[in-house]
Amino acid sequence: MSKLWGGRFTKKTDQLVEEYTASILFDKELAEEDIQGSLAHVTMLGKCGILPADDVETIKEGLLKVRNRIQRGEIEFAIADEDIHMNIEKTLIDEIGPVGGKLHTGRSRNDQVATDMHLYLRKRVVEFVGLLSKLQTALIGQAKANLDTIVPGYTHLQRAQPILLAHHLMAYVSMFGRDIERLQDSYKRIDALPLGAGALAGTTFAIDRLYTAKLLNFGRVYENSLDAVSDRDFIVEFLAGASLIMTHLSRLSEELILWSSTEFQFVELDDAFCTGSSIMPQKKNPDVPELVRGKTGRVYGNLIGLLTVLKSLPLAYNKDMQEDKEGMFDTVKTLQGALQLFAPMVETMKVRKDKMRRAVDQDFSNATDIADFLVNKGMPFRQAHEVIGKTVLYCIQQNKFLLDLTLDEFKQFSSLFDDRIYEVLKPETVVNARNVYGGTASVQVSAAIERAEAELAKV
Ligand code: ARG
Repeated sequence: MSKLWGGRFTKKTDQLVEEYTASILFDKELAEEDIQGSLAHVTMLGKCGILPADDVETIKEGLLKVRNRIQRGEIEFAIADEDIHMNIEKTLIDEIGPVGGKLHTGRSRNDQVATDMHLYLRKRVVEFVGLLSKLQTALIGQAKANLDTIVPGYTHLQRAQPILLAHHLMAYVSMFGRDIERLQDSYKRIDALPLGAGALAGTTFAIDRLYTAKLLNFGRVYENSLDAVSDRDFIVEFLAGASLIMTHLSRLSEELILWSSTEFQFVELDDAFCTGSSIMPQKKNPDVPELVRGKTGRVYGNLIGLLTVLKSLPLAYNKDMQEDKEGMFDTVKTLQGALQLFAPMVETMKVRKDKMRRAVDQDFSNATDIADFLVNKGMPFRQAHEVIGKTVLYCIQQNKFLLDLTLDEFKQFSSLFDDRIYEVLKPETVVNARNVYGGTASVQVSAAIERAEAELAKV
């Protein structure tokens, strides 16, 4: 059979043009959504009396057959048929004859492809919210198991103040919580049906867009037909949300990579998530977080790519917009891979509490607290800062830590010191002193875990 749009043409399409313009090699991913959209569309055509009931039945049965054949891998999609929409329509016509040609009544590929993209992303958003909450569950599990594990907290990657490992992990739970919110919010824009916009201006047939929307379970229809076929904002939003998820995953990746180095030894990733070296027998490399960190680049690239495609694009549909797909599919695949691996990797990672403790015992991350001690005794904070700075310098020169100093040594720096400082300087005291909402004190972290679990139960 010749092209579905061949009537106006006298020459065959150039072979290279055919290959260059075809999208079937990647948009075959939309087969299920395309059939769902067509089933709803033809049902609506029947309900509005635009197509007779028996044609509607024949077309629906035909579409179901096509769906089955696609699922069984029986259909060889043809580049000559350009995209998934025309491949399916052609297969339908092969299956049920010319009546199949009635399916496209009152519809254009422009509102059709936009509909498919909405249906596709709607599913993905639900899927990614699920995957993110699994990762949150894994992080919360580790947090609960580490409510008494103290680690150095860092700023500038320099030891700053001791914190609970649970507190550190719960920071990521908050980040992924925002990612879930963002996805859920983007759902509002995905939940609008473009179908019925026609090529750009609407259609001469007395269709019922709201009915189609109801059949496809969309909350609303696009207000403006031009906007309906040219809007790709909802894909940009998804790619932006995905970029932030990858940002968060790459930050966690970086920490896990650092933490599994011999220099830190804070965690050990399970063998199942690491690989070896072909030459160095001792190696155990954290490939999964490394690759997640690396793949963040392509996800950002896909976002910038689509924004650039859309920039300055005149209304309404332009073929440029076919470029919305590969990046989106790539982002979906990249995100699926990362999130699927991350939850079990976090769950199975071994936390080296002993090494973390050693690190905390061998640093000056309790210095702020001893300055606060002097402040509580009436010294202005700036002066206390100076005094403790000098004390720390003395320790460094003496190769000691604050807890190693005798009271006499302390008193050389200020007469306000007394023997209660030894209690103040203990990592447990330092951590639990930050008993402010959202702080690292263990009662606060336990409360944060409870709140996060309650949030998670709502997702
Ligand atoms: N394959 C096309 C795309 O993905 C479908 C829409 C084509 N519409 C058109 N008028 N050529 O954008």
